Amino acid sequence: MTALALAYDWLRGLHIVSVIFWMAGLLYLPRLYVYQFQAQPGGELETTLIVQQRRLYRGIMTPAMVAAWLFGILLLLSNAGRSGGWIFIHTIPWAVKLLAVIVMTGVHGMYGAARRKFAEGQRPRSEKFWRMMNEVPAVLAIVIVLVATVGLR
Ligand code: HEM
Repeated sequence: MTALALAYDWLRGLHIVSVIFWMAGLLYLPRLYVYQFQAQPGGELETTLIVQQRRLYRGIMTPAMVAAWLFGILLLLSNAGRSGGWIFIHTIPWAVKLLAVIVMTGVHGMYGAARRKFAEGQRPRSEKFWRMMNEVPAVLAIVIVLVATVGLR
């Protein structure tokens, strides 16, 4: 057994912890954008929201996303999981999981681009759009977790 395979349970635990922090931000940041639409331009609430958005995105979500990818790739390379590791990467459940995490990463990048505009006091897209965006990471998370727990075997 390789050292990576021995570390498998640790890697899996750290992967899940990282994913929890990443998801918390993906679900909450669009809500802060919705609040900014309701705040007075240049007012105290808007200033507070901009600080909260920056701290959430830079301080929590981006490091958590990097950690989720890092531990996920190490899990794949360990070849120790129920899914059999990277040699099974071509199977349909893996394709679904990878596609969903790539879309999730794209959503993260889209939030980041919007955050820079909100920080300048702009209001990109619409309040309705950010209310609807709340649902996208939720649906992706359900797909990814069910593929990881039921599909990968
Ligand atoms: C960021 C890129 C990601 C990569 C490269 C990745 C890769 C992996 C790998 C290789 C495993 C071990 C599977 C096995 O062999 O049993 C795993 C487990 C898991 N992943 Fe990910 N993952 C990623 C993102 C995510 C996300 C975004 C979620 C949830 C929203 C997630 C949820 C899980 C869960 C719940 C497990 C544990 C499955 C089990 O042990 O039964 N992963 N992941």
